[in-house]
Amino acid sequence: MTPSDVKATLSFSDGSPSIDLPLYKGSIGPDVIDIRKLYGQTGKFTYDPGFLSTASCQSTITYIDGDKGELLYRGYPIEQLATQCDFLDTCYLLLYGELPNEQKQKDFHKLVSEHTMVHEQMQFFLRGFRRDAHPMAVLTGLVGALSAFYHDSTDINNPTHRNIAAIRLIAKMPTLVAMAYKYGEGQPYVYPRNKLSYAGNFMRMMFATPCEDYEPNEVLVRAMDRIFILHADHEQNASTSTVRLCGSSGTNPFAAIAAGVACLWGPAHGGANEAALNMLEDIQRNGGIEKIGEFIKQVKDKNSSVKLMGFGHRVYKNYDPRAKLMRETCYEVLGALGLENDPLFKLAMALEKIALEDEYFVARKLYPNVDFYSGIVQRAIGIPVSLFTAIFALARTVGWIAQLNEMIGDPEYKIGRPRQLFVGSERRDVPPLHQR
Ligand code: ACO
Repeated sequence: MTPSDVKATLSFSDGSPSIDLPLYKGSIGPDVIDIRKLYGQTGKFTYDPGFLSTASCQSTITYIDGDKGELLYRGYPIEQLATQCDFLDTCYLLLYGELPNEQKQKDFHKLVSEHTMVHEQMQFFLRGFRRDAHPMAVLTGLVGALSAFYHDSTDINNPTHRNIAAIRLIAKMPTLVAMAYKYGEGQPYVYPRNKLSYAGNFMRMMFATPCEDYEPNEVLVRAMDRIFILHADHEQNASTSTVRLCGSSGTNPFAAIAAGVACLWGPAHGGANEAALNMLEDIQRNGGIEKIGEFIKQVKDKNSSVKLMGFGHRVYKNYDPRAKLMRETCYEVLGALGLENDPLFKLAMALEKIALEDEYFVARKLYPNVDFYSGIVQRAIGIPVSLFTAIFALARTVGWIAQLNEMIGDPEYKIGRPRQLFVGSERRDVPPLHQR
C-alpha cells in the first residue's frame, strides 16, 4: 500500500485527545483511512454495518467505479474482455494477473479440460437429494463435498494445492451444475466433452441426452460465454467477502467456495436474476404492459416491500456496464431464435423505460443491473429459472478463488473478526425457574 503524506485527524467533542490516522492511496479510486490501531489508541471501534465505508482488504483484481459505471478486471474494461476474449482467457487473467499469450492460452485450456470430470462417486452423493430440491441447495452441498473427494488439494497454505483446487473448481463447476439440472429432470448425466469450448461443453452437458446429441449454436454459446465473463468477478461483494472470511480461518478452498455459493443464493445478490424473471412473469400474468404503472406504484410505496428486481446496486449509481452488454446479447439471442417479439422482453424494455424516467428511480440513481437482462437471455437459451443462480455461481467461482488466493498470499492477512456495538443486557444472574 502507498502511504499518503496526508493524515486523517480524529477528534472528540468530550476533550479526549485527538489522534492522527494514516491514509493510503490506491492506484485508482478513493483513499482509505487506516483504522487498525484505532481501538488500541482510543478504546473505540468504528461502526459500519453493511460495510458502506469500509475496505476489508487491498486487492489488485477488480476495480469498479460505480458513479462512472466502469468495471475493470486487472485493469481491462469489461467491454473489451467481453468482445475480444473468452471466459477461459478471463479466468487466466483473474487468477494470474495477465492475459495469456497463445501458448499459455493453449496450455490453460488443456489443463482445465483435463479436470472436467468429477469423481464417479459424486453421483451417489447427489442421489441423496430430493429430485425437486432447489439447484442452489444441491450445488452448495456438491461444492462442499468436493473437499471429501479431492484430499490432495485441500491445504490452503500450500500454493500448489491452491492452484490445483482453483483449476479443479473452474473445470468441475459446469459438470456439477449440469448434473444438478439433469438430476432434477430425471435424465441421465452427460459426461464432459473436452474438445468443445468451456461454454459449449456446459451447454451440451445440459441439453444432450443419450438418444440425441446437442449441436451447439454459435450465437447461444457466445451468449453463455458472455454471461460467464460478465459474472466472473465483482470485487468485494457479499459472496466474495463470505469466501474471504470463510477462508481466513484456514479452511480448505472447496469449503470456502461452498460458503460463497450459499451466500450468492440470496435474492438481494445472485438470486436477483431468478427474482427478476419471476417478477416479469408475474406482471405478465397480471395484465402485462398495461399494468406496469400499477406495479411501479407498488414499488414506490414504502409500505409494500415490493422492489423492482434487477434494478439498483450497492456500488453502481449509474448504468451497470454489464447490463449494457447483456442487453446487447439479449437482442442477439432473441434475434437468432426468432423471438424478437418475446412478450417478456418487450415488458422488460417497457419497464426499464418507465423506471429510467421516473423521479423515484432517478433521484435514487437506480439503474438496471446485469440481472435484469441475464434472466431473459438464459430463459431464451432454454435454461430453467431455478438454475439461473447456479450458473451465476459457476461463473463467479473463478472470482472467488482468485480473491481467496490473493488473500492467502497477502502478508497482511489475518483471520477476519469484526467487532460489535453491544446493546443487550448488562451482566445479570439466572433467576430460578419459578421466578422467570
Ligand atoms: N426497487 C425499488 N426501490 C429500490 C430498489 C429497487 N430495486 N433498490 C433500492 N431501492 C430504494 C430503497 O428502498 C432506498 O430507498 P429510500 O432511500 O427511500 O429508503 C434507496 O433505493 C436506496 O436503496 P438501498 O436499499 O439503501 O441500497 P443498497 O445499496 O443497500 O441495496 C440492492 C442495493 C440490495 C441491490 C437493492 O438495490 C435491491 O434490493 N435491488 C433489487 C435486487 C437486485 O436486483 N439485486 C441484484 C444486485 S446485482 C448482483 O448481485 C449481480
